[in-house]
Amino acid sequence: MSTSPTISFIGAGNMASAIIGGMLDNGFQADKIWVSAPDDNHLQSIRKRFGISVTTDNRYCAQQADMVVLAVKPQVMAEVCQDIAPVVQNTRPLMVSIAAGLTADTLDEWLGGGLPLVRVMPNTPSLVGKGAAGLYANSQVKDKQKKMVQAVFESIGSALWVEDENLLHAVTALSGSGPAYFFLMLEALESAATEAGIAPETARELAIQTMAGAAEMAGRSEHDPAQLKRNVMSPGGTTEQAIHTFEDGGLRELVKKAYGAAFKRSQEMSKELAKKQ
Ligand SMILES: NC(=O)c1ccc[n+]([C@@H]2O[C@H](COP(=O)([O-])OP(=O)(O)OC[C@H]3O[C@@H](n4cnc5c(N)ncnc54)[C@H](OP(=O)(O)O)[C@@H]3O)[C@@H](O)[C@H]2O)c1
Repeated sequence: MSTSPTISFIGAGNMASAIIGGMLDNGFQADKIWVSAPDDNHLQSIRKRFGISVTTDNRYCAQQADMVVLAVKPQVMAEVCQDIAPVVQNTRPLMVSIAAGLTADTLDEWLGGGLPLVRVMPNTPSLVGKGAAGLYANSQVKDKQKKMVQAVFESIGSALWVEDENLLHAVTALSGSGPAYFFLMLEALESAATEAGIAPETARELAIQTMAGAAEMAGRSEHDPAQLKRNVMSPGGTTEQAIHTFEDGGLRELVKKAYGAAFKRSQEMSKELAKKQ
């Protein structure tokens, strides 16, 4: 008999589907995965797609699990948690929330208190198996449970722990909002190259492949990004001209300012969310 954990998802949207798809690609067993959501038609299509078990009953779904992933929008989280609280207080699974802004203490209170709880800040590239997630565990979480949740999120990309919950704001400003920073760079490069006469589709493909290639190199190389950049810059060459233009234009300061603005907004949104509950 298998000893692999049973994992239940409350919410069957984009993130839950992406995580489940990644888990199945990485050897998790379909018969150990449950998902619940209100719309039975949608659940039946998920069941057909993944071969997992589905139910419209959140309590029943939670009851099956060693680990419950709360994959609903923050606005409905209080109602969902309070509904399943009597069940999870009895079975005491590891609770995992992927909702931005809702603190571990708030979630724990809604769930009746004293449960092991992990907060995860995933990002949209998770939807294509290339996510980058920051994870925070409260003091009730055991090492074995940390390994379990890490394995789940590594099936859709990278999963890295932070020791202080407040650092999830720093993660939000980095990898949470980060895909949009690189999309902006793609837009700007594509537009500059198109103005220089390259066909828009060609410019886009060259820019995307360049970004993907640079990311792959940075991930695999023993050199830091500064060295990798220097390796492309031959003295008096074209890259040097472009990099000097970026530096003289204050790109580093601008990135710091943009990062700070996202960080601050993440803190504000968390406070706004707490007030609304
Ligand atoms: N998408 C991302 O890239 C991303 C990144 C970081 C964090 N997140 C967080 O991940 C969470 C899920 O996001 P998502 O993009 O997957 O949202 P989504 O696609 O809207 O999915 C939400 C799911 O929750 C279901 N739901 C609604 N009310 C419910 C209830 N009372 N009980 C059970 N299920 C219920 C919805 O069902 P119906 O559709 O039938 O209403 C839907 O299946 C959010 O908290 C979001 O902040 C998402």
